[in-house]
Amino acid sequence: MLMPAVELHVHLEGTLEPELIFALAERNDVELPYTDLDDLRSRYSFTDLQSFLDLYYANMTVLRTAADFADLTNAYLARAAEAGVRHAEVFLDIQAHTGRGIPAAEVLAGVTGALGASEREHGLTSGLIVTFLRHLPGSEALAALEEILALDVPLLGVGLCSTELTSHASEFAPAFDLARANGLRLVAHAGEEGPPQNVTDVLDILKVERVDHGVRAMEDPAVVERLVRERVPLTVCPLSNVRLRVVDTIADHPLRAMLDAGLVVTVNSDDPAYFGGYVDENLRQVTEALDLGPQELTTLARNGVAAAFVDDARRQELS
Ligand code: HPA
Ligand code: ZN
Repeated sequence: MLMPAVELHVHLEGTLEPELIFALAERNDVELPYTDLDDLRSRYSFTDLQSFLDLYYANMTVLRTAADFADLTNAYLARAAEAGVRHAEVFLDIQAHTGRGIPAAEVLAGVTGALGASEREHGLTSGLIVTFLRHLPGSEALAALEEILALDVPLLGVGLCSTELTSHASEFAPAFDLARANGLRLVAHAGEEGPPQNVTDVLDILKVERVDHGVRAMEDPAVVERLVRERVPLTVCPLSNVRLRVVDTIADHPLRAMLDAGLVVTVNSDDPAYFGGYVDENLRQVTEALDLGPQELTTLARNGVAAAFVDDARRQELS
């Protein structure tokens, strides 16, 4: 099967596998509220985004030291390489760690150390996108970015995630303005659980260059027409959409309709440790359920390369 060369929508904390949760809990003397792996896995059944986020944030408590974050990052990079990924742009919910007392410098030392060695150690290039948490105030996003910029670590861009339903994009404009002024690339989750207007808002107000998810844009033909005209990439995560009940089944996923509409869609894994598969499994399942052929798979692969935040030389290599 034609595999995509890039992954553009994966939360590092969403690659935290149950086995690593137990290993890190042991290493750090963290008491888990689960009796064993099966007990933990039995909780991986979600009714919506928030029901997932509650478990996702709770499990992060095992991540404490730079070494923990490096192990997490390396485990993802190794698995991505196995899936055929040659360039990955990974999300990090930095506020979910600083908010429980882990210094940003500790988190970033582990993550950027591992990403910096990704080409040598795993054969793939990578970049870091720090994602602001939308359930926290915009002022905290701005403060988080100021702190990260002062640390002068390698940073590709900023994003926005967590629930879309309780805040307006405009709250985050100061943080995105500062990111843009510092030459960072801009993305945001929108149109996952939120309406098509949220997609328009992140484009107009935050001036993002890609939209994460964006599947609900399909409910508004005018928004679809704009995304096609402006060639705005959408990083779609099929298994995530099924597991978080954005769509009923993989066969109901709008990916083929999005391709047919001319949208620049890519396939990604979102939180693969929680949703039943990495990018290769996402692609395998949509290919089978939506009967995608060589033409669609080639378009998906090309879209990924076109949407990646890489220089021309690297884009050429990935093509
Ligand atoms: N949506 C919003 N926030 C998230 C997600 C998601 O799918 N995964 C991790 N954080
Ligand atoms: Zn996501």
